[in-house]
Amino acid sequence: MRIGVLTSGGDCPGLNAVIRSVVHRAGALGDEVIGFHDGWRGLLECDWRPLDHDAVAGILAQGGTVLGSSRVQPAHLRDGVERARAHLADLGLDAVVPIGGEGTLKAAKLLSDAGLPLVGVPKTIDNDIAATDVTFGFDTAVGVATDALDRLKTTAESHQRVLIVEVMGRHTGWIALHSGMAAGAHAVLVPERPFDVAEVAERVGARFDAGKRFAIVVVAEGAKPLPGTMKYEDGERDIYGHERFSGVARQLSLELEDRLGKEARPVILGHVQRGGTPTAYDRVLATRFGREAVEAVHRGEFGRMTALRGTEIVMVPLADAVATLKTVPAARYEECETVV
Ligand code: F6P
Repeated sequence: MRIGVLTSGGDCPGLNAVIRSVVHRAGALGDEVIGFHDGWRGLLECDWRPLDHDAVAGILAQGGTVLGSSRVQPAHLRDGVERARAHLADLGLDAVVPIGGEGTLKAAKLLSDAGLPLVGVPKTIDNDIAATDVTFGFDTAVGVATDALDRLKTTAESHQRVLIVEVMGRHTGWIALHSGMAAGAHAVLVPERPFDVAEVAERVGARFDAGKRFAIVVVAEGAKPLPGTMKYEDGERDIYGHERFSGVARQLSLELEDRLGKEARPVILGHVQRGGTPTAYDRVLATRFGREAVEAVHRGEFGRMTALRGTEIVMVPLADAVATLKTVPAARYEECETVV
């Protein structure tokens, strides 16, 4: 068989582990693998290179993606689907394995509905893809954020400051929830639950009243205040129409400084959460996903995606993965609130 692989959308630690695993498993089954450059762009423009054992040697622990990524989607072009179909035929491909987040999986579904043989692999540090318990990259991102929070605590305490730490998560608060719990933050704010700035100020103020010298607030970039509780500007939109939530930590730090009379500083962790080497957990999950994607190709299970259910790797319909986002359930948030 001949299998194409591509990585699309925002990068994520563990992408190279999937690529390597696809190449290793396919190689063991006598298949040939090619890698498209820069996600769907490579497929649409027929830009690719062969991938063999040597090509993936040493990449397991590398962050980013050796194939490159972009946010180009087949749907952006009028003839996107037909171009993809023609290039698959020209290259003699039996299947394509796109590795990506929500946008990539939606594109995979579009092509799959048009009859193209696709097997998806989910990735995102945000952990918000439905139909899989976990996505690789999340564990690494939570580790990076937790390490940053641990470090920020010592400088916050030295200066008796409130630090408002903005982590990634434009639609969901999984990174905020997990890193906030892991680091013992004093308030955790997520997009799923609009926050009341007066309550946040009260909670932080109570800490100082009790003689504590600092406070750490973790806020997901997509968290929003309850309407009318604080002056807040909506994020600007980028060229793809995505909102840029660059303002919540800055705005919240100004509000808290005003209300509490304590120095407050915003800290935006940003893309550092997506970079660097994946944790062992993410390497294992990514490797298992890559292997299963090749097995699914051999079974002819197209239009589906690898997923983790409990400890098992299973295949689920792409339709299930893109139907909705996996948000933080109220019970998980309430559980967190009782321990921060
Ligand atoms: O991968 C998802 C994500 O990490 C979001 O949490 C964040 O809002 C976004 O990517 C940032 O994307 P970009 O790299 O395009 O700035």
